Amino acid sequence: MQLTAAQCAHYEQNGFLIFPELFSPKEVAILRGEVERVSKIDSECIFREETGGPAKTIFRMHEDNGETKSAAVRAAARSPRSLGVAQQLLGDHALYLHHSKVNVKAAIQGSAWPWHQDFGAWHLDGVGKPQLTTMVVMLDEATEFNGCLYLLPGSHHEGRHQPYWDDSTAYSLWAVGPKEMRKMIARYPDPVPLTGKPGTAAIFHCNNLHASGHNLSAQDRRQIFFCYNRVANHPEEVENPRPDYVRSQNWEPMRLASDGGILESATKFA
Ligand code: SIN
Ligand code: MN
Repeated sequence: MQLTAAQCAHYEQNGFLIFPELFSPKEVAILRGEVERVSKIDSECIFREETGGPAKTIFRMHEDNGETKSAAVRAAARSPRSLGVAQQLLGDHALYLHHSKVNVKAAIQGSAWPWHQDFGAWHLDGVGKPQLTTMVVMLDEATEFNGCLYLLPGSHHEGRHQPYWDDSTAYSLWAVGPKEMRKMIARYPDPVPLTGKPGTAAIFHCNNLHASGHNLSAQDRRQIFFCYNRVANHPEEVENPRPDYVRSQNWEPMRLASDGGILESATKFA
């Protein structure tokens, strides 16, 4: 998939692009099935609210080894519609995934993610430059009611803000403080809700400020995130590095898969 000059300019200006229904209902059904299958596995790559409880975050489904591996998710991560777009936006063919994750925001209980930049944490992982981009794919319809993501247009232009560790929600993370966020929201156009039918995707710059609300609906809201980094920008050594499933050391450049890879993965193992 080749982005137009207007799409590249939109990404440059706003820090993100939205692609309504980029993945088909059949592809989404396969990916959902894989998330359901893998969520039953016992693995350190799966975070749960309580032992034996439902999965909250599943890491590392894109690799071809390990407990959480999934051929369909691997194909999605290497699709010309995701990897191809990331290659174009980062201006480099040699990309790998810093990590991939499936977030399950549980019906009724799934709580908010505070405003943050992904590069807030990834820089602490030892990544030198903000040359990463994330493709998010909706596996369920995302609405304002079920806690969709919000992106603050243009906010990536100011670089990385010094983050603080926020453990006030179920998703502790390196967040940007309320005082700074008030200024940022006043300075930029209104945050854009990332809503859409299943299969809708978006790609956003690692310094783009984003957040999401509580899921007040009766259905879980699931999304896959592919966080692409340039091989040339792989992390330097740090003290107490985070585990490989979140700070990957597989810096092998990813090869583009066939665009039909998700559907093919299902017939192969049927
Ligand atoms: C994230 O920012 O990494 C995830 C936010 C969400 O799933 O709502
Ligand atoms: Mn994030």
